[in-house]
Amino acid sequence: MPAAPLFVPNHPLLKHHLAALRDKGTPPPLFRALVCHLSQLLFYEAARDLRLTPVTVETPMAACPAETVADCVGLVPVLRAGLGMADAMLEMLPEASVWHLGLYRDHATLKPVTYYNKLPANHGLDVGFVLDPMLATGGSANEAIRILKAAGVPRIKFVGLIAAPEGVAAVQAAHPDVPLYLAAVDDRLNDIGYIVPGLGDAGDRQFGTTC
Ligand code: PRP
Ligand code: URA
Repeated sequence: MPAAPLFVPNHPLLKHHLAALRDKGTPPPLFRALVCHLSQLLFYEAARDLRLTPVTVETPMAACPAETVADCVGLVPVLRAGLGMADAMLEMLPEASVWHLGLYRDHATLKPVTYYNKLPANHGLDVGFVLDPMLATGGSANEAIRILKAAGVPRIKFVGLIAAPEGVAAVQAAHPDVPLYLAAVDDRLNDIGYIVPGLGDAGDRQFGTTC
């Protein structure tokens, strides 16, 4: 099966906000605002194929044919760093459900460890968006996607901010049906699994836990 598309929109606003996000001098409050801007710009692209249903609304002037989102949408932030992305997307589509998924990378093995899973059994979702700003080795993304597939989510998309080529290749190999939406694909991983040039630790920078 050929891999689903990798979308890296070539948009000046994405590049502008990404530059500030990467800057080591950007403090957590601004970092969170930038995660929000970037996530909303990417969600605009990733949500492009959501199905619509026709409705009629009454404007102050007349009845007006309109359309609303028909798909049942789930936002699946990978804790911790995906939380800011979910908040940003909920502002755009407040009807979406949010399923929290706790994964962390074991520092020695770089393998994902699942510690929290709030996915409901009878969800009725049409599409699930896995949200994680950093796609490094791809282990966390692959595990999150595997969990959604096991829960029977029929369409899955991954939205991230910065990826390493190794992570993109790993997700495309394991889940060729899942399209990827990213603001940038960087040069490489370093020997402790961090993306270079990247932005450092997305969770720490978002929540002010850098020592
Ligand atoms: C980071 C990031 C991803 C993961 C990416 O989380 O937010 O979830 O690493 O790495 P991978 O592609 O190699 O799996 P981390 O484990 O640092 O957890 P945290 O957000 O709780 O700090
Ligand atoms: N997680 C991060 O937060 N940053 C990286 O570069 C890799 C994994």
